[in-house]
Amino acid sequence: MVLNKQKLEAELWVEGKNTYLPFRLHIFESVASTNKTLWELLAQEPSSGCVIIAAEQTAGRGQWGRSWVSQKGGLYLSLAISPQLAINSGYQLTLATAWGIAEQLRKYGVDVEIKWPNDLVLDNRKLGGILTETKVRAGKITQAVIGVGINWKNPVPSTGINLYSWNNQGYSTKISCLEKLAAVVLMGIDSAIQCLEQEGVNILLSRYIKLLSNMGDTVEVDQDFSGTVVGVTSTGNLHLRKSNSVSDAVQESSFYLQPGTISLGYRKSSD
Ligand code: BTN
Repeated sequence: MVLNKQKLEAELWVEGKNTYLPFRLHIFESVASTNKTLWELLAQEPSSGCVIIAAEQTAGRGQWGRSWVSQKGGLYLSLAISPQLAINSGYQLTLATAWGIAEQLRKYGVDVEIKWPNDLVLDNRKLGGILTETKVRAGKITQAVIGVGINWKNPVPSTGINLYSWNNQGYSTKISCLEKLAAVVLMGIDSAIQCLEQEGVNILLSRYIKLLSNMGDTVEVDQDFSGTVVGVTSTGNLHLRKSNSVSDAVQESSFYLQPGTISLGYRKSSD
């Protein structure tokens, strides 16, 4: 199922501005990883706005060195951007992308939430994920590849969900084809990067947290240590608070978990 480039360009046409959103699209039948192909392209001509989309990936990359199973029917997309970010702010690109895509999908009737740090969830199941890779020059992140995988028609495990079957369960979304989904994802990333650059990380985080399904959950870090989720920091750490009763007083303490140190799992679904 190769995506139709002209159809996608039509979806990205901005009425009134008489222009496409600023993306250069490269569509492939099969690649090892769209992130890898994009880095290879950027080595020849570094430029922001290049997009690689593939119908399947044979060695899709997931977070924390995992692989991302990428059978035909899914959306596998990578976008190049040229941020000027401090090295310790790189994770903001992932948080921003998760928020931007979730927010945009919600505008199209898909009730997506975010599971910390980078999962897009629908009906408590994984709809998609984000893998951001960065290059550093003179102490700054100057180039980034934002990779997004979204389950459209591809087979998924029991903890996953694909949007096409959700659409067919009677939910009324305005996402009718893979090209529309790709356009919504690209528009979501574009608005997220604009939010980060123009409004700053604190505004971005306040929006991200509104869509975070884990807020208020109790997280068990180990057998005798748990806390309540109260937020996410600008480096992507999960902020937990713990209440201790000492004599008659209640003492509150905060602790933080880095992305990748704990998996929050999925809530039990009703079926
Ligand atoms: C995760 O582990 O949740 C993130 C998965 C990211 C997968 C996407 S698919 C397109 C891009 N190319 C890759 O090799 N990985 C990302």
